[in-house]
Amino acid sequence: MNVAIDFAWDDRYLVGHQAMDDTHHEFVELVDAMLGAGDDAFASILERFAVHVEAHFATEQRLMDQFGYPVRDCHVEEHERVLASVREVRALVADGDIETGRDLARALADWFPGHTDYMDSALSTWITKKVANGAPVVLRRSMRHA
Ligand SMILES: [Fe+2]
Ligand SMILES: [Fe+2]
Repeated sequence: MNVAIDFAWDDRYLVGHQAMDDTHHEFVELVDAMLGAGDDAFASILERFAVHVEAHFATEQRLMDQFGYPVRDCHVEEHERVLASVREVRALVADGDIETGRDLARALADWFPGHTDYMDSALSTWITKKVANGAPVVLRRSMRHA
């Protein structure tokens, strides 16, 4: 038996880094769309999610490199575990096993709040500190309005 659940955005997921927060909104939307999808629509939403999640994690990993994040490995390992599951389940869904796809969507909805609260917010805090300490993040030219 399936219990339908929603996965709605909650501002407690905000980490204070605009690009990460935008990406996280998209993550929640896509997982919620998977949870609500019928059999016909499920595989195509999972494919969109798979593209999203590869880019999502790659962006965070680029930020870790850019800002010399010291506890990169456990964060990246957690991303890798999720990516491995997504790849495995895509193959099963492509063979018609939609229920396993729904299990994945529920597992992702469970996983996201803890990961975001613990790992992504720590990364965001690190970046904020680096920026506050004058790390050369973006060179802003003075903007003139003629
Ligand atoms: Fe994230
Ligand atoms: Fe992350």
